[in-house]
Amino acid sequence: MLASKRILLIVGGGIAAFKSLDLIRRLRERGASVTPVLTRAGAEFVTPLSVSALAGQKVYQDLFDLTDEAEMGHIELSRSADLVVVAPATADLMAKMAQGHADDLASTLLLATDTPVLVAPAMNVRMWEHRATRRNRATLDADGIMFVGPNEGDMACGEYGPGRMSEPLEIVAAIEAALADGPLKGRRVLVTSGPTHEPIDPVRYIANRSSGAQGTAIARALSALGAEVVFVTGPADVPPPAGVEVVPVQTAQQMLEAVEAALPVDAAVFAAAVADWRVAKESASKMKKTSGGLPQIEFAENPDILARVAGAKKNRPSLVVGFAAETDDVVANATAKRKRKGCDWIVANDVSAGTGIMGGTENDITLITDDGAEDWPRLAKDQVAARLAERIAGALV
Ligand code: CTP
Repeated sequence: MLASKRILLIVGGGIAAFKSLDLIRRLRERGASVTPVLTRAGAEFVTPLSVSALAGQKVYQDLFDLTDEAEMGHIELSRSADLVVVAPATADLMAKMAQGHADDLASTLLLATDTPVLVAPAMNVRMWEHRATRRNRATLDADGIMFVGPNEGDMACGEYGPGRMSEPLEIVAAIEAALADGPLKGRRVLVTSGPTHEPIDPVRYIANRSSGAQGTAIARALSALGAEVVFVTGPADVPPPAGVEVVPVQTAQQMLEAVEAALPVDAAVFAAAVADWRVAKESASKMKKTSGGLPQIEFAENPDILARVAGAKKNRPSLVVGFAAETDDVVANATAKRKRKGCDWIVANDVSAGTGIMGGTENDITLITDDGAEDWPRLAKDQVAARLAERIAGALV
């Protein structure tokens, strides 16, 4: 998939730079050529010799090496690639990118390039969560810079949290997605996925059995066809796909806000199992057992995100796909749901306990469109996703 693709890889300074050596290997195995650029800080962690040996090319390090333009100038270097990848991207490198600095080779290339840029951040959790880094991230997002990671986990500095650089194969997947040249190239698609958690008090919440597996597979399949995917996900069991913009949320109300912020999109797929009700008044402190009897919990209805987007006067996507999780009269209920919610298609599935669908690896769906109900065979969730993504691509042409 990466055959003859040209990657300009900027290796920043951080302990994660050692993973970039493996990344170079993985990219070359897939047929890509890798032109490496090592920052001064990067060279404190990996040697220029190992980088260039693995890349099979000269490693570029110094801006002023290039200024005589005898070999290759920085403008040409920055534009001769199909994709610029920054891995690891330090907090400093992100700040330079956001501000448009050009005081070394890496930042100059990033400012001079007209090629898409993918960034794999790696830094201490406090640095990642610092307001300054968040501002820079938002600026870079708005500039169209793509991100992969960071992941959450133990950090080399002994702390725990988000800030670890994505693994080389996750970065490869994000690179493949960024370079994907499928029928959905240039299309922006929204996918909601996973359950929502509706808090009762600081320790308890209402949830459901959705694992997020089907929504995740759909986002991955759409991205593989070249779509730019915004993935709004509740707390799911499965990790989000690489190469998509992930917006994590907890509650239905947060999901609605994230969905509205992601519009306009060409198509939207609502695979999330959104809680229909929330607790009207979330308790600020933990509810205690009392001799007064059982607690009285009052519910409030959550907004119907799908119905709102499908019925919107402004920014309605040209294709709105809902899901219908049913336990009885699946097709009849789902057909009525499609009408009631105003969506174009409904993916209906039987989530009764015996089917093993909710939380399982397979799905058995009926696709309901204007043309009626179409039964699909029982398939793995990623096959259902691939088939649905193809149908969406067909409908958007
Ligand atoms: N949905 C939504 N917002 C909600 C509830 C559901 O966006 N508050 C979306 C789901 O993502 C799915 C579709 O609506 O695409 C149907 O969800 P489902 O749970 O089957 O239907 P409900 O609206 O909850 O109807 P009911 O519980 O009565 O079957």
